[in-house]
This record gives sequence, C-alpha cells and structure tokens, in this order.
Amino acid sequence: MVVLGIESSCDESAVALVANDRTIIAQAIASQDALHRPYGGVVPEIAARAHVEVLGPMVAQVLNEADMTLADVDAVAATAGPGLIGGVMVGLVTGKALAMAGGKPLIAVNHLEGHALSPRLADARLAFPYLLLLASGGHCQILEVRGVGNYRRIATTIDDALGEAFDKTAKILGLGFPGGPAVERLAATGDSRAVPLPRPLAGSDEPHFSFAGLKSAVMRAHESGKYAPADIAASFQQAALDCVLDRTRRALANADDVGSLVVAGGVAANLSLRTTLETLANDNDLRFVAPPMQLCTDNAAMIAWAGRERMNAGLLAEGGDPLDIAARPRWPL
Ligand code: KG4
Ligand code: ZN
Repeated sequence: MVVLGIESSCDESAVALVANDRTIIAQAIASQDALHRPYGGVVPEIAARAHVEVLGPMVAQVLNEADMTLADVDAVAATAGPGLIGGVMVGLVTGKALAMAGGKPLIAVNHLEGHALSPRLADARLAFPYLLLLASGGHCQILEVRGVGNYRRIATTIDDALGEAFDKTAKILGLGFPGGPAVERLAATGDSRAVPLPRPLAGSDEPHFSFAGLKSAVMRAHESGKYAPADIAASFQQAALDCVLDRTRRALANADDVGSLVVAGGVAANLSLRTTLETLANDNDLRFVAPPMQLCTDNAAMIAWAGRERMNAGLLAEGGDPLDIAARPRWPL
C-alpha cells in the first residue's frame, strides 16, 4: 500500500509517498523561510499563496521521482488542521482534487496526529503507549500516545509555544528568523547562570507550560544593558529547558506504564534539549526516541504515515473521508 501525503498547515509545503513497510519512496519539502524572514515571523496570507504555487508541481515531481502515477497510489492523506487556515485549505483541497481524479480514498489527517505517530515511522520497534513531548513553533504539548486515535493530552501551553519563545528571544537579541538554531549557537558561548530568569510554572501542581513571562524577562534583561547577548541566550535556554524538564518529569509521574519517552517538533533539533530528555529517560528506565530531524519538523511523510496508521487501525470509513470535510484552524487531538 502506498499513501500520498500533503502538508501545508504552516510555512512548509510538503508532499511525500510512503509505503506500508515504512519506506519513504519519494518526498519534497519547500520551506518558506526566505519569504517570511523580512517580517520576523510567518505571515498567513503569504504562506497560503506560496502553497498554491508550489503544491501542484511538487505532487508531479514526487510521483515522477518515484516513477509512479496517481493510479499507483492507494490513498491520499492531507492535513485538515489545525494550522493557518488559508494554508490548510490549499493542501486539503489539493488532496480532495487528487482523491477525486484518481478515485482514491481521502484521509483528512490531524497535523498533531501526524507529529504524534511520526516516531513510529522512523522506529518500527516503538510500541504504544509512549510519552511524547511535541515542541515546535506552533505547538507545545505533552501527550500520552496510547494507540492510533487514542491520545491523552497531559499538558499544553497557556501562552507561547517553546519554539516561539526561542524565536522571540532571537528577535529581541537581533538574531533573525527562525531563531531557535541561532539562540542555541549563541548560548553555547555564554554563561547560563549570568542572568537571573524565571522558570514559569516549574514546580506547579498544574501540568501546563508557560513561556510568556520568560520572554518578558529576557526583554527586560536585554533592555537593562547589563548583560552580554550570549549570556542572555544561554540563561534563556537554560531556564526554558529547566521548565521542560520539570513539566516532563511531572507528566511521567502521571502517565500510565509508558515504555518510551519521545520528542518531536522543530525544537527537537536542540542538542541540549535532547540530552536533558535522554537523561530523564535513562533515570526512569525508559527508551529515549528522537526521530531524525526531517521527521521532527513539519513534513508530509508523517501525514501519509498517520493516514496509513488510521487505515490499518480500521478508523477510516469505507471509501475514505467525505469530500465535503472542512479545514479546521483549531482541532485538538
Ligand atoms: O516543527 P517546526 O519546523 O515548525 C512548526 O513550528 O510547526 O518548528 C520550528 C520551530 C521554530 O520555532 C524554531 O525556532 C525551532 O523550531 N527550532 C529550534 C531549533 N531548531 C528549530 N529551537 C531551539 N533550538 C534549535 N536548535
Ligand atoms: Zn507541526
């Protein structure tokens, strides 16, 4: 079985062909970073227009690379939300058109389910249930992944996502967009104890994340003129990771018999975050799984894979999802 996946919920246009045996037969990703960089963040209208331009040719390119036609595809999976609604609509309507033209079932995939199941695309040994930290520019959640379609959200952010906090810190320090990698690089040259910064919600009885107060404190530290940017970056990263460690530890204590700790989302590229979580997993006798970066950031292989998992789990109606299914800006798992 081969599933064609389409992703367009934020600023990555992506198309992939994934086989039942976990082979990514072909894939293409077009990043829009250069288009949004002048604005210091993703502009929804620009994102949607760019998806319109590139998705069609990318489908042709991926099929061509795989030496396949639409007739060789068994199902079409497209992100139906959550995300920037204009972009989601472009990808979903592309998926509907392909499904209709090829007489294939449409699978409307929740983007978060794509992230939640992507570690199983990379690692055939990863069994349910597992605890997932999903940290990107748009999401910051801890999920207990109990099975396909069976997710318990333990924590979410009450304000900013973790990647957003990195991006805003980068903006304050004048490091450009996207800011996560730049903050990590600068932090490596600074002193993480130099700037006193808060750890919002650390030690709290409630399970959630909060990063807005940390961002404001970074702003005040910068404006005080007392600290070197490298020290601010290092202190920020340490404070943010302390929060993540505290929240993940609390989630583990409240999770039922999970066998693995898994991290996904763009922030999973951060080496200090990986090390922190790996140590936590080892201390709790859990496997630590961090998929390759190309599967952590937004991509279409995870959407195709989630579609395949839904089909195999018997969660898809006969003939697929209806062609009038709506794109959803908000869609909690
Ligand atoms: O998953 P992703 O590519 O896109 C979505 O937001 O959905 O994640 C991008 C986010 C950005 O906020 C970026 O700054 C952050 O991941 N990021 C990092 C690093 N690399 C990317 N944050 C911290 N350290 C990094 N090395
Ligand atoms: Zn995402």
